[in-house]
Amino acid sequence: MQRKPKVTVIGSANVDLVIETDRFPSPGETILGNTFHQFLGGKGANQAVAASRLGADVTFIGSVGEDIFGQQIVDNLRKEKVNVEHVLTIPTVSSGIANIQVAENDNIITVIPGANANLTEEYIQSLSAVIVASDIVVLQLEIPLEAVTIAIEIADKGNVPVILNPAPAVPLPEDLLRKVTFITPNETEMAILTSNAGQDFSVLFQQMFALGSKSVVMTYGKHGVIYGERQRELQNYPALTVQAIDTTGAGDTFNAAFAVCIACGKSVEEAIVYANAAAALSITKLGAQTGMPTEDEVNRFLKRLSD
Ligand SMILES: Nc1ncnc2c1ncn2[C@@H]1O[C@H](COP(=O)(O)OP(=O)(O)O)[C@@H](O)[C@H]1O
Ligand SMILES: [Mg+2]
Repeated sequence: MQRKPKVTVIGSANVDLVIETDRFPSPGETILGNTFHQFLGGKGANQAVAASRLGADVTFIGSVGEDIFGQQIVDNLRKEKVNVEHVLTIPTVSSGIANIQVAENDNIITVIPGANANLTEEYIQSLSAVIVASDIVVLQLEIPLEAVTIAIEIADKGNVPVILNPAPAVPLPEDLLRKVTFITPNETEMAILTSNAGQDFSVLFQQMFALGSKSVVMTYGKHGVIYGERQRELQNYPALTVQAIDTTGAGDTFNAAFAVCIACGKSVEEAIVYANAAAALSITKLGAQTGMPTEDEVNRFLKRLSD
């Protein structure tokens, strides 16, 4: 790679607060728990970190609260060599928090979007120059849809390719889908986008095209990836066999790796093969960001597979 590809990720950043207890308390009850762990997350921040480890020049656009969590989010991104100059700090709200309680082989999760919900259309608009100077823009749906929509419009006008990872999924307007270069749902998100569960995937792909999508990269967990373009047969890319330890962050790693390859001018086929490998590696370690591989690790893994 001669020049580092410029990847701009516009999305969420959260802190996950995880407590583990023997059982869930009842309303009004106080119990003693066992352990407490903190993890950095949010699909936006995760994808920014993954893309940076894979060798891209990454700018993250997002917002945090003026609290200790916001500081940790920004410090971590900086440590991962992500450009944080356009991360907004909002004094009146908390940072995004996921309160996760694990007990009885199950979990209870409450997400406070906090500052993520305050990323405005105006703020994204003010960063138009940053967006159009990118080789690719990567978005998810954990920030307001108005912010996502304006970012896609700016990128489209500037001829910058856009990857939209539609998570968490909601049905999306045709005008938005038309301007997205690659949409990357997983299998459940695909069903939500098309409002059509239980159908054959080929039917869902046709519906995506009817809704305006050009290129659909559907990730399908341990089955790998199905890729579809209008008027072309669907392509299957089986997942690579690894020992799965923790699949958290697999989708984020996939999206980042795919984006980095497209930004480098690689073909869709090459990008999917590379992203499949990066995502497979990510699940061999515990945690979302901790498991994300570097460019060298992915290249070595691919080389070992071809030997
Ligand atoms: N068990 C697995 N073995 C190998 N690769 C996997 C496995 N699970 C996920 N992956 C890789 O991660 C990608 C994203 O996983 P997926 O579950 O579809 O996303 P999400 O985490 O968004 O649900 C897959 O397309 C595949 O490349
Ligand atoms: Mg999945």
